[in-house]
Amino acid sequence: MPVQALFKPFHLGALELPTRVVMAPMTRSFSPGGVPNSKVIEYYRRRAAAGVGLIITEGTTVGHIASNGYPNVPQFFGDAPLAGWKKVVDAVHAEGGKIVPQLWHVGSVRRIGTEPDASVPGYGPSEKLKDGQVVVHGMSRQDIQDVIAAFAQAAKDAQNIGMDGVEIHGAHGYLIDQFFWEGSNQRTDEYGGSLANRSRFAIELIQAIRAAVGEGFPIIFRFSQWKQQDYTARLVQTPEALGEFLKPLSDAGVDIFHCSTRRFWEPEFDGSELNLAGWTRKLTGKPTITVGSVGLDGEFLQFMVNTDKVAQPASLENLLERLNKEEFDLVAVGRALLVDPDWALKVREGREQDILPFSREALMTLV
Ligand SMILES: Cc1cc2nc3c(=O)[nH]c(=O)nc-3n(C[C@H](O)[C@H](O)[C@H](O)COP(=O)(O)O)c2cc1C
Repeated sequence: MPVQALFKPFHLGALELPTRVVMAPMTRSFSPGGVPNSKVIEYYRRRAAAGVGLIITEGTTVGHIASNGYPNVPQFFGDAPLAGWKKVVDAVHAEGGKIVPQLWHVGSVRRIGTEPDASVPGYGPSEKLKDGQVVVHGMSRQDIQDVIAAFAQAAKDAQNIGMDGVEIHGAHGYLIDQFFWEGSNQRTDEYGGSLANRSRFAIELIQAIRAAVGEGFPIIFRFSQWKQQDYTARLVQTPEALGEFLKPLSDAGVDIFHCSTRRFWEPEFDGSELNLAGWTRKLTGKPTITVGSVGLDGEFLQFMVNTDKVAQPASLENLLERLNKEEFDLVAVGRALLVDPDWALKVREGREQDILPFSREALMTLV
């Protein structure tokens, strides 16, 4: 099947992507002190040079004391980190690519002892104690407003340094998703209870970002059914419920939905072949990004635990069929692009035999 569908430009307002290939956000932990350095700049530049239309950066933390959960994650606040990101933006633009930061708050996943201030516990929708000590601080209304303000400021800073939009990390059991999911949100105020209430935090956050950046600056929202705390968890069980979940997010100002699944070919609901991105496009009328094992024969979470498994390159047939049918608009590629900066170029030129397999070793270096 011809691969051209992946290399057609995409337009949305002022956003013009040269190709449909999106680099999925992947935490790399190569930014000591929270600052993206020359190696990080080069890492993103290479992907843009080889035909990635849109780079979504690794998760980068907003300016709140508890936003970070892991070592050497780049920040999206403070002079030095933003100056580092500006160099990334300029390098990607010089290659004709586009780039958005993935704005991140890990919420209750944070552990005491984590940088930058080791004394700060996780912050989440609901308090958690362990041996009498607060390990997750249950967020007050003021905390909620502080985090929303931090996201809005980060989006404004993204715009100021020339980023092409922002992606909000609303997936995988991190803070925003902790509010969405009844398994982690036990609040009894207006931010807990019904799914509409559990979505209130995300809706206010999107509205605040839109107010900060104005019309025309793309907001991408990433969400997932699965949680790192429970791979089988689901926010919604039916297309109707998915529509009800997405509508207020869409109305609040989302331009593109990034629908995170582990295997893009899996139907989201019985009775239709559509995947999560397919349903989301159909229900909201907004463009969507699909993701999950594109070009590889094994899904990603098994590689996060110690394993010597190798994911081999796999056919793009099913993906191209769906893209041609306009089930979704854009295709995010994670590990295949992590291990091989030239993945898009090789696909475009029909050099399948040169595409590299993925193994855990690839995580150790930034090529
Ligand atoms: C090393 C690694 C780091 C990741 N970090 C993030 C992240 O910071 N934010 C995020 O939303 N997803 C993250 N993911 C998930 C990817 O964006 C993507 O959804 C997942 O890898 C599935 O795509 P793939 O099968 O093409 O790798 C990460 C995945 C990997 C492999």
